[in-house]
Amino acid sequence: LRSVRVELDERSYDVRIGAAGRATLGDAILGVLGRAPRQAFLIADANVHAHVAVVEQSLRDRGIAVSTISLVATEPEKSLHTLGIVLGAMAATRLERGDVVVGLGGGITGDVAGFAAACYRRGIAIVQCPTTLLAMVDASVGGKTGVNLEVGGTLQKNMVGAFHQPVLVVADTDTLSTLPDREFKAGLAECVKHGLLGGCIGDTDHLAWIVASLPKILARESESLANLIERSVAFKAGIVEGDERELAEDPNDGPSRALLNLGHTFAHAIETLPHLSPTGLAADAPLLHGEAVAIGLVGAAAASASMGLCAPELTAEVRLILGRCGLPTRVAGLPDLAALEALMGADKKVAGGRTRLILPTPGRNAKVVTNPPKSAIAAGWDAVRAG
Ligand SMILES: NC(=O)c1ccc[n+]([C@@H]2O[C@H](COP(=O)([O-])OP(=O)(O)OC[C@H]3O[C@@H](n4cnc5c(N)ncnc54)[C@H](O)[C@@H]3O)[C@@H](O)[C@H]2O)c1
Repeated sequence: LRSVRVELDERSYDVRIGAAGRATLGDAILGVLGRAPRQAFLIADANVHAHVAVVEQSLRDRGIAVSTISLVATEPEKSLHTLGIVLGAMAATRLERGDVVVGLGGGITGDVAGFAAACYRRGIAIVQCPTTLLAMVDASVGGKTGVNLEVGGTLQKNMVGAFHQPVLVVADTDTLSTLPDREFKAGLAECVKHGLLGGCIGDTDHLAWIVASLPKILARESESLANLIERSVAFKAGIVEGDERELAEDPNDGPSRALLNLGHTFAHAIETLPHLSPTGLAADAPLLHGEAVAIGLVGAAAASASMGLCAPELTAEVRLILGRCGLPTRVAGLPDLAALEALMGADKKVAGGRTRLILPTPGRNAKVVTNPPKSAIAAGWDAVRAG
């Protein structure tokens, strides 16, 4: 397995990437902890049952007892209620502080498992085993964990949580073999986003590499997937190392987690309208998060170009790349600009009532613009409005 180190002083850890990683998980945990934990509590996505037995066996082979709970990975189920059930099950198995929690699944499972580990007995070790491309390149790295909160009938995403870095991440590319195509492509949107931001950590070639490797990536060729994940994780690690708790005072000064929201202000506005789809057909709704991000990346490029912060050609380039990934770049049925601006203003990333856009700039970099002109927001929405 190849390895990317996330350097965070005493919270540093490795992200191991490659085929069959789940089969050697027991060894890897022994190596990281320097001892065999008595017990592992496995929190597994109900859709990855095909991979659960291998993980359980690899732990038992190293003398680690395993208890497994399965989660339904939907946003409504990513809740305090589910967290309570998970914590109760952990207590019922008498999990101790020296034991370990393993999260096996996509970002939803990883976020719940990580938060459960952060809370249980004031924090025990978590090993993340992401099984979606999005979770491998993004959610499993960086220590953000949490659940959604229902407030007044609406789901507020990731409203309750904690920073709790894993002790190890094992991204087994074999698990991607069962991932539905649409979910796989949604993960590619985050990789393209990383490529657009690569200059922030000195990797200006990442996007060109993705484009050149796309046929093999889309064919899920194992080596290309491992390369893609390694490069994207190295990018995410670079950002997290510079701003572990998203506290960077001025995100324009250097690596900042705020930059990871490139495309997200547009995407979150789109996601609040679940009937929207790229085609206008109900069958294609709701959009997956990654699909909304893809559309948001085009919107951000167009907004940036309208402010003269990047070349006008960037919008077409981003659209072309995302199209080649099989991702949507327009959305049908958008309301008028005033309604969209109101939705952007309601986004939780808005600080002090100000709309904040992350806009791509030359050199695969980005700039944070607070209260952008209305013309830039309009240009962004015009670029993604279908029909
Ligand atoms: N913590 C972070 O830093 C961070 C970053 C980005 C996103 N997130 C969170 O991640 C979540 C989205 O994650 P996601 O896109 O991985 O979605 P997800 O966890 O919802 O998984 C997507 C779907 O794929 C299924 N699935 C997962 N792995 C599979 C596999 N190998 N084979 C077959 N089916 C599989 C799941 O059951 C689910 O139906 C959101 O809740 C988001 O808030 C967290």
